[in-house]
Amino acid sequence: MPVIFSKQSSEFHLFNDKLSYIIKILENGQPGNLYYGKAIDCQPDYSYLLEGGPRALAVYTRENTYFMSPQYTKMEYPDFGRGDFREPAYVIRQENGSRISQFVYCGYKIFVGKKKLEGLPAVYVEKEEEADTLELCLEDKLTGMQMVLSYTIFREYPLIARSVFFQNHGQETVYLEHAFSASLDLPDANFEMVQFSGAWTRERQIKTRKLQQGYQGISSRRGASSAEHNPFLFLKRKSTDESQGEVYAFSFIYSGNHLEQVEVDTNNMARVSIGIHPEGFDWRLKPGETFQTPEALLVYTDEGLNAMSQTFHRVFESRLVRGTWREKPRPILINNWEATGAAFTEQKILEIASAAKELGIELFVLDDGWFGNREDDQSGLGDWYVTNFEKLPGGISGLAEKITKIGMKFGLWFEPEMVNRDSDLYREHPDWILCAPGRTPSPSRNQYVLDFSKKEVVDHLFEAMERILDSAPISYVKWDMNRYITECYSGGREAGVQGMVYHQYILGVYTLYERLIEKYPHILFESCASGGARFDPGMLYYAPQTWTSDDTDAYERLKIQYGTSYGYPVSSMGAHVSAVPKHPGARNISWETRENVAMFGAFGYELDLSILSSEEKQQIRNQNEFYKKYRSLFQFGTFYRLQSPFEKNDAAWMMVSKDQKLAAVGFYRMHEVPNGPWVRLRMAGLMPHEKYRIQHLGDRVWYGSELMNAGIVIYPKDMSLDGKDFSSALLLVEMV
Ligand code: GLA
Repeated sequence: MPVIFSKQSSEFHLFNDKLSYIIKILENGQPGNLYYGKAIDCQPDYSYLLEGGPRALAVYTRENTYFMSPQYTKMEYPDFGRGDFREPAYVIRQENGSRISQFVYCGYKIFVGKKKLEGLPAVYVEKEEEADTLELCLEDKLTGMQMVLSYTIFREYPLIARSVFFQNHGQETVYLEHAFSASLDLPDANFEMVQFSGAWTRERQIKTRKLQQGYQGISSRRGASSAEHNPFLFLKRKSTDESQGEVYAFSFIYSGNHLEQVEVDTNNMARVSIGIHPEGFDWRLKPGETFQTPEALLVYTDEGLNAMSQTFHRVFESRLVRGTWREKPRPILINNWEATGAAFTEQKILEIASAAKELGIELFVLDDGWFGNREDDQSGLGDWYVTNFEKLPGGISGLAEKITKIGMKFGLWFEPEMVNRDSDLYREHPDWILCAPGRTPSPSRNQYVLDFSKKEVVDHLFEAMERILDSAPISYVKWDMNRYITECYSGGREAGVQGMVYHQYILGVYTLYERLIEKYPHILFESCASGGARFDPGMLYYAPQTWTSDDTDAYERLKIQYGTSYGYPVSSMGAHVSAVPKHPGARNISWETRENVAMFGAFGYELDLSILSSEEKQQIRNQNEFYKKYRSLFQFGTFYRLQSPFEKNDAAWMMVSKDQKLAAVGFYRMHEVPNGPWVRLRMAGLMPHEKYRIQHLGDRVWYGSELMNAGIVIYPKDMSLDGKDFSSALLLVEMV
């Protein structure tokens, strides 16, 4: 049993062959952390790991004893105002204004399997034996509040999923001002913190810094997980690299406001906090009511960053993504957005679709502009039906029929959470947007945010989308979200619930997704938020892939996809080849390089295929044949980062099939170096003692160990690096 309780020492040991996590019920009834790291052998008692002793100014848990001081103790779910002066994991306000809680341990449950999180995305098990769960129950006798700290350890992965459940068993209403999903105290702070931050068109850039005393962290108050800071970070040792070394990673399965933070205290202990951002959060709990936090994932490995990422990849692909499209090869798609914008004609759409069919593309996606009075971003959002029959004479069903006749699947764009003032929906329900009383709502892209905390709004959107989805053979939906939340106030509702609106909004988004995927299990959903502004694990529970970024320039994309790969599988990254140069002065990158970048993703195109030369068409045709042949390798192999585009002029990554018989290596040279040095590329993930051949590199046979340890020499000519900036090579490695 991978969770052991020792009665004698009141200790819980969660372990698998990779990691151990040890919790002790402390003398004041709070759970403390004794250890989290590489697996250690089981003992009935690890209390030697409990540190304590007299210190000036310390606050103690009992009179006349000088051992346990909360401030110096590693806590599991620390409280506020009772001597632990670091970041609390939660704060509860009583009606009398007190913010002091005193939760003490009152029991535990250990069971095989993992419970569902009601209304929230979470990792899951398919067979109970895949994981084991420990639930620690704590109560606050004065208020009657109870909390359950939940820990699920996966047997096969170095991963623990944590969340907290609150229940008000008392007589009074209380307010949760702050309720993180996990808090973790590490005994040293000798780490580098790595985060993935950016902006629109440069999402998830790698930022590294050494931990220092004080606070460091990332957050979003934007109502979405955001392009600015992804809800994911890790702590690595200075010497840790892709193939070896310790790393503690934290990922938050949530799509709204979040905070991931590390506080290093004056004794160099590091406290990691992960959860919903406390700003704007004030959850009312009346007697009998409950609150479930979202789930945080903790991954530990001493095998380096690729091993950390591969854990997230496998778990997300197979135990977060659900339904028909889980681990199923994704169609090659063509999206019309970059070719036409919103002001398209049906004839142009059909031209693109016919050209796409001829080139082996499988799915046509009609983007923004098909509904209401929508020619640009001024109007129409909210009206999810066709009103302009000059543009689409047969409506969506007519167009879908024509596309289907061409022999392609049909997909459609929606932006369900938004409305333009110039729309029928707004004219009918001006009170459906988020807006503070007496204040003017702030516009963004001329649109406003619908109040998804209201059931009637979510119901309306479901019915509107249902009408369209029922009217035509639609096999893919791109769900977009193109502005952040401001004036987060739910009109017409009481003051006491306003601190719940940010979170209820996200619950409304999840509810709508859930209802849609339940009714339309065959539809492949792709989430999007002005590109990758809501690329988070919460979304992947509903939509198996996400539009990675509006930036389709291959050089920028290389960096964005590389950064994204730390926390997310390749199959989740929508990646398209688009036209060059995208705007005057932009990079003119070859077809090969654009394809060689986009193939390491859920592959597609985003350009006007109908105006290409016959040579270009042949290039695309060949490309698609190749991609289809190796599609499962590219989408569901084991991904290795080899060389970072953030560090050097050459970058590389590779995908290895699960049976290690086949691999594809992408090598990218940013700038041509005149008379440059020879470069050696070392591969990863192959079988050391098996022999491999590399396509187009003659008959030579290499052992896996040679390719991984000695590497190959990159000779530009052999590898069709064309001597220009942004050249690339794709090497197919096959076991002989
Ligand atoms: C966002 C998306 C784009 C496109 C436009 C349409 O920017 O990221 O892919 O769908 O909206 O308005």
